[in-house]
Formats: sequence, C-alpha cells, structure tokens
Amino acid sequence: MEIAVVGTGYVGLVTGVCLTEIGHYVTCIDIDEDKINLMREGISPIYEPGLSDLMKKNIDEGRLTFTSNHSEGFANKKVIYIAVGTPQTKEGKADLQYVEKVAADIGHHINNDVIVVTKSTVPVGTNEKVREIIRELVNGKFEVEIVSNPEFLREGSAVQDTFHGDRIVIGADSDKAASVLEEINRPFGIPIYKTDIRSAEMIKYASNAFLATKISFVNEISNLCEKLGANVEDVATGMGMDDRIGNKFLKAGIGYGGSCFPKDTSALVQIAGYVQHDFNLLKSVIEVNNDQRRLLVKKAKERFGNIEGKRVAVLGLAFKPNTDDMREAASITLCEELIQSGAEVVAYDPIAIPNAKKILPQSIQYADSVENALENADFAFIVTEWDEVKNTELDVYIKKMKTPVIFDGRNCYALEEAAKYAVEYHSVGRKTQFGI
Ligand code: UGA
Repeated sequence: MEIAVVGTGYVGLVTGVCLTEIGHYVTCIDIDEDKINLMREGISPIYEPGLSDLMKKNIDEGRLTFTSNHSEGFANKKVIYIAVGTPQTKEGKADLQYVEKVAADIGHHINNDVIVVTKSTVPVGTNEKVREIIRELVNGKFEVEIVSNPEFLREGSAVQDTFHGDRIVIGADSDKAASVLEEINRPFGIPIYKTDIRSAEMIKYASNAFLATKISFVNEISNLCEKLGANVEDVATGMGMDDRIGNKFLKAGIGYGGSCFPKDTSALVQIAGYVQHDFNLLKSVIEVNNDQRRLLVKKAKERFGNIEGKRVAVLGLAFKPNTDDMREAASITLCEELIQSGAEVVAYDPIAIPNAKKILPQSIQYADSVENALENADFAFIVTEWDEVKNTELDVYIKKMKTPVIFDGRNCYALEEAAKYAVEYHSVGRKTQFGI
C-alpha cells in the first residue's frame, strides 16, 4: 500500500519506518527541511534503538522516502497518517493547532480519495473535526474517510513495541475504512481491536491515565511502606502475582515523566471538565506525581537539615533510560530545587546532557562519567536507572565521594547488596540501609 505519514517525531517516524518494514511504500512528510535531509541519509533525528538500521534498509530497498512538500508527499496516496504533536497548552489542554494544520494541508493538496488515519493523541471528537476541515476544503471532489488509530509505543523501545504490541486499535465508522486499516496492519501479527472513532480516541487517554494511576498508586504505597517498615518491592511483587492486578507498572520511584503521561492525564481532566465531570481520581494521581518528583530533595533535607553549599552528584537526567528526552523529567524539578536550596550540582547522563543544558538552571555543572560526577560529592541522587548507573559498583561511591550518602530514586541496588558496603543508602519505599 502507498502511504503518507505527516510528522516525523517519535510516533510518525517509527510508524512510517515500521510500515515499510512490513512491505508498504511510505513517504514521511515534515516541514523541517534540515530534518528531512538528515533522514534521507538514513539518520534518525531521535535516539531510538534500532530505528536508523531500519531506515537505511528501507531507503535502500526503495520503500521509504522523505519530503517537505505536501503535494508531492500526498500525490496518489490512498492513506495518510497524521502523527504530529499535541502538546500541552498553559491551561493543560491538548493543543490541536498542528493536527488542524495538517488537516488543512490534506484538504488543499490531495488529488484522490483518501482515508485519513489519526495516530496523534487527540481528545474525543477531534477526528470528526479533522474530517470536517478536510471535507469542507475538498468540497465534494474526493471522498474522505477518517480512522482513529492510537499509538501505544514507548520511547526507547518504540521499534520493539511496534512489532510486538498488545493490540492495534482501529476506530472507524465505515467498514470499508476499517478493513483497509486492518489489511495494512495485518502483517504485524498483533491482535486488532475494531471500535467506533470516539471509543478509540478514549482508549488512548484511558490507557495512559490508568498506567499513570498504577504508578501513583504504588508510589503512595511506597511512601506508606517507608513509614510502616514494609518493603515496596516485595509488596509490588506480591500484588503483581495476582493476574487481575498484573506485575507491570508497579515500580515505585520518583514519579512518571516524559511527553505522554503528564500531558495526557492533564488533558483528560480537561476533557472531563468540558462535559461537567470532575475527574477527582485523576487529579489526585497528578498531585501525587508532582509530590513524588520532590522526594529525593525532601529526603536529603530531612537527613542533612540544610543542604546549602553541599556538592550533589545527580546521576541520570532523561525521564527514563534509553532516551535523550528531557520532557517532564523528574530531574528538572530536583535540579531546580537543589539549586534554589543553595546546593552545588554536578550532573551526568549518557546522552541527555545536550537537551538538559537547554532547560536546566545555568549553574549546573556537567560531568562526562558517573565517576567524575561523584568526585568529592557530599551526597548523590540516582534519578534515571541507566544500565551504566545501575551497574556502578557501590565501591565507586566510597572511593569518589566525600561522604558516600546515596539517595536512590529508582531502587537500583538490593538492600542486601548495599549492606555489604560502607555507604548510607536511602531508597524508595524501603528501609534506609547503613552499610558496614
Ligand atoms: C507511555 C506509554 O507507556 C505508552 O504506551 C504510550 O504510547 C506513550 O506513553 C505515549 O502516549 O506516547 P513513555 O512515555 O514512552 O510511554 O514511557 P513509559 O515507559 O511508559 O514511562 C513513563 C514514565 O513512567 C517514566 O518516567 C517511567 O520512569 C515511569 N514509570 C514507569 C514508573 O515510575 N514506574 C513504572 O512502573 C513504570
């Protein structure tokens, strides 16, 4: 099938490339010329394991092309995917300006009947609006059908998730459009769930909101565990053995970040508000998450009283491992609070430092390794559980730091392991371990 994908962020580029890998012919469209030139060379503008290799292979085999020209990109395409961002506005709503702009571009530039597929996360009712914009512009010349096909991939494992997802959701109000989408996606070999457009739009928000709820729930349990002397890892394992609960997304830590959960939970609260529904549960999930991001600073202040003048090693900055994405990362809140409290911050991340420099306070220093960040530090924060961070021997903290006091926001070390070293080890939802 000949397909166009508009937008080459995480969702658009991964979708476009993976569709070529299962045999389709895809033109990816983006307004950013520099990005287009890079991608034509097979270079991915985002850090995503496995993506560049697939890009190069499918460019060489003639299935994957890139353009910044809409007419050229849409020419003779029967299916067009919209995969542009829906960032958060100041009021917490989903900003639909990019989606609506693409709808207008489609209306202006298509030269045949199309099925428009929305991959972007959009509030319930948006697909109908997109269809209206396009139909008005084509003015009866071509047939326009719309399908909601939300995306469930995770950054850092996006390619793997696309080929091994749990389900593909197709929301359509025409059997014909739904069948075309089914045919496109069949080679992935993933269960397909067909529903109406509004339900498909809601499945995406409800899924992200539910996962965020699981995380805030286990974080609240972990805070209780600390006060009651229980161990949250054991509690989560015991809970997760119940199939009805499941063992995934029950890892306590310093809250969820990234470009999706914070934005989508906030948007769903707003969406509920439009229909006079007060989504109290989700509001609490967000509040718990905002508090949880401050946890390590709170613990450090409880331990030291005043942290002014203390040298702090911050290990990991990205919102999770295997990505250079800093959007809504807990490290932002933590670094800002450390600096405001007068601490001296030395941060390390394997790949997110260039992005971090654009948003973190100017006075932060950056190290080029875990070891160098720890040099002479009064205490250390473990913020992102990169392999490199997790695999650092606790001996290194002892050798490098002024005082080996560790606040681990990701529970990277077993308590029995920490007990073998002369470190003071604070983690999340577990007792503080004072080593030998
Ligand atoms: C999330 C969803 O997992 C995807 O299914 C969805 O497609 C995507 O949002 C999206 O809407 O585009 P992503 O934001 O890439 O994917 O990252 P996750 O791996 O889900 O992690 C999100 C955050 O939750 C991270 O900060 C992570 O550290 C945190 N988390 C995750 C926990 O604190 N505990 C857990 O048990 C799991």
